[in-house]
Amino acid sequence: MDLILREERPDDRDAIRLVNERAFDRPDEANLVDALRSEARPFVSIVAEQGGVIVGHLVFSPVTIAGQPAEGSPRLLGLAPMAVLPDHQRRGVGSALVRLGFDTCRALGAVAVVVLGHPEYYPRFGFRPASSFGLRSEYDVPDDVFLALELRPGSLSGRSGSIRYHEAFASF
Ligand SMILES: CC(C)(COP(=O)(O)OP(=O)(O)OC[C@H]1O[C@@H](n2cnc3c(N)ncnc32)[C@H](O)[C@@H]1OP(=O)(O)O)[C@@H](O)C(=O)NCCC(=O)NCCS
Repeated sequence: MDLILREERPDDRDAIRLVNERAFDRPDEANLVDALRSEARPFVSIVAEQGGVIVGHLVFSPVTIAGQPAEGSPRLLGLAPMAVLPDHQRRGVGSALVRLGFDTCRALGAVAVVVLGHPEYYPRFGFRPASSFGLRSEYDVPDDVFLALELRPGSLSGRSGSIRYHEAFASF
């Protein structure tokens, strides 16, 4: 069955909650998505639909480097959360979401993306340890789980510091 990838629509919200609750087996990520939708700009929300059912979902929201104002600086986005229904995992849905997501981020003028996540999964898209760009996480996490990718080559040169996620992540 064909996989349709597209930006979310208002009538997808319940299905997006369900995908996140099922993938993470708790409501926290679904709540985070709802908070980002109402507070974060840009809010990039991509769904994967198969046979009329939302089977995967991915969000990008703005991140900043501590001490560097977002205004006037090239746009950086954070990938989170990403979820695929358990019985649809390992069939390329997540990868398709990430690839369309990058195109959408580029179209919004983003120059780089960061992600806090599985170190075995994200390097396949070109992510490298964020520390290799001089970027660190505001959270106390192992070096190899905080990753970054330049959508525009060289865009992270000279932009070292601590990455701050949107404040909706603080209550997560
Ligand atoms: C992570 C997730 C979004 C990947 O989606 P997916 O549609 O299964 O991914 P794809 O089919 O594109 O890729 C599958 C590959 O990812 C790997 N993979 C999937 N989940 C993984 C995990 N938790 N850790 C490491 N690798 C993982 C698989 O081994 C597979 O690798 P292979 O292609 O070498 O066999 C999905 O597994 C999921 O929703 N997990 C639960 C929620 C979660 O952990 N979200 C990410 C938070 S960082």
